[in-house]
Amino acid sequence: MCGIVGVLGKHEAAPLLVEALKRLEYRGYDSAGIATVNDGKLDRRRAIGKLVNLSDLLVHNPLAGKSGIGHTRWATHGAPSVKNAHPHQAGDVTVVHNGIIENFMELRAELNNNKIKCETDTDTEVVALLAKYYLSQGLSPAESVKKTISRLSGAFALAFLFDGEDDLMLVARRGSPLAIGHGDGEVYIGSDAIAMAHLTSKITYLDEGDFAQLSRKNIQIEDRNGTIVNREEKNIDVSSIAIDKAGYKHFMAKEIAEQPLTLAKTIKNYLDEDAEQIRLPKNDIKLANIDCLTMVACGTAFYAALTAKYWFEKIARIKVEVDVASEFRYREPPVTKETTAIFVSQSGETADTLAALRYMSSQNAKIISVVNVPESSIARESDLVLPLYVGPEIGVASTKAFTAQLTVLALLALKIAKTKNVITEAQYCIYLEELKVIPELINQTLSIESNIQKIAAELVSSQDVIFLGRGAMYPLAMEGALKLKEISYIHAEGYPSGELKHGPIALIDKNVPVVVIAPMDSLFDKSVSNMQEVMARSGKILLISCLKGLDKASQGTWATIVMPTIPEFIAPIIYAVPMQLLAYHTALAKGTDADQPRNLAKSVTVE
Ligand code: AGP
Repeated sequence: MCGIVGVLGKHEAAPLLVEALKRLEYRGYDSAGIATVNDGKLDRRRAIGKLVNLSDLLVHNPLAGKSGIGHTRWATHGAPSVKNAHPHQAGDVTVVHNGIIENFMELRAELNNNKIKCETDTDTEVVALLAKYYLSQGLSPAESVKKTISRLSGAFALAFLFDGEDDLMLVARRGSPLAIGHGDGEVYIGSDAIAMAHLTSKITYLDEGDFAQLSRKNIQIEDRNGTIVNREEKNIDVSSIAIDKAGYKHFMAKEIAEQPLTLAKTIKNYLDEDAEQIRLPKNDIKLANIDCLTMVACGTAFYAALTAKYWFEKIARIKVEVDVASEFRYREPPVTKETTAIFVSQSGETADTLAALRYMSSQNAKIISVVNVPESSIARESDLVLPLYVGPEIGVASTKAFTAQLTVLALLALKIAKTKNVITEAQYCIYLEELKVIPELINQTLSIESNIQKIAAELVSSQDVIFLGRGAMYPLAMEGALKLKEISYIHAEGYPSGELKHGPIALIDKNVPVVVIAPMDSLFDKSVSNMQEVMARSGKILLISCLKGLDKASQGTWATIVMPTIPEFIAPIIYAVPMQLLAYHTALAKGTDADQPRNLAKSVTVE
């Protein structure tokens, strides 16, 4: 995904745009650019790579003007380059775009037939060329943009500036988020509130299909039918979106370390005053009627859903189907009445997850979403939103959001079990007490960091790493593999321990570290026998367990990580921490960028 920003201000736009882009850089960092209108004249600066390159360019080649738009890119069409960087310009029009124009090839062909040549490899360029074409046909800027967006299929959040127009910005959204910020005689736009938190706390979120004409003194919003509408102006708690590393080397390190605090906040928000009952936001979903759940997500959020399947089935006695959104959305499975679907998404903007949600909505399923951004697209289309309350997660690798997703899903499973009366009051209280100690146990677990640093110093030279887990630790094995892959670029796979002998054990030799996640639970002995199968083939075992487990099974292992003794119910949440720390310190040892790993973006708002 990309990030777009804009300002119609009273002061120079360039510094405000660069600061806003800094806050959106987690959305993509292949290139960045800004454009301004200065005394009616459009101009732009663009640079490949991270935002710092654009900042450096602006020092040597400043850009004046109080009206501006900006963009930070995660490349979808066209390699990262200055040529393909936004803003794209065609004559008197410049535009920035987040999303994908799916029919851009047909539009390119049509423009070609009209002797209008594209100069870039991007889909976005056709938007600028079409707007320029309609302007040349005598349409006004607003009519040109409306005509242009009527020709587009796919997803977009767009912001346009025009030569000769110092006090006009046109914006539109379909399938990608876009917000307007209200200043004192100024107006801003951004892909999310974070982009504008340093400028204002007064935010208006545009709805799907909205088009808006902005000037410093007036904002006119039209809905998808062209009707002029008012959208609610919200006061966002900008303090909760303070974006800084608080002294840590990376956002990821900060977000791992703050999990005891963030999870305490998450849990507190779901318990009533005397902390004896789980309280959900107001909703009309009949929890007692739920007998089957469909859970859909991507990446780490998918592993949270896969973990929760064990809780919903074992504790709430509910059948659960879990799928990755990119598969689910095209499977279009039959949906029986009373089906409830849960969508898990940190950003609340992941295109595949949103598309899967829309399919389930079209089938009249009840929609629950577990998100970290309550005003996100996924949240706005849900019947019940369960926020994570962990504050913005900037590191591309999801950490505090993952443990919060697990915690919220565990609370939901418990709430449904209690509502359906499938657990005793005594068992309910035990589970609830166990959930309440999560922050303390995470805090204790963080003390293993120095041991993990040593292990990472050896792990960093591996080509391949295997993660094994049984039961609810199996999804965690896959999450551990994903964390390592995505920030250290070392190939890693997560398997159910019992599956190894059905083929993957052929991969084992003395150069392949095998991370065995084995708390002392009901499956511990099974995990140990799988571990011994690996050691019998000179596999290098890293065993993660509690002291008792290590006493029983650590002989012959390459390394061990000792965990506190943890109740089986919440073990997957606490055991996420060694996965996160192992990946982070391996990335540090490797010298990769833990916060902004290559090829990735924080939320993938394109297919
Ligand atoms: C997780 O570390 C990755 N960054 C990625 O797999 C992420 O979990 C996935 O893209 C889903 O994002 P979402 O939770 O915002 O929907």
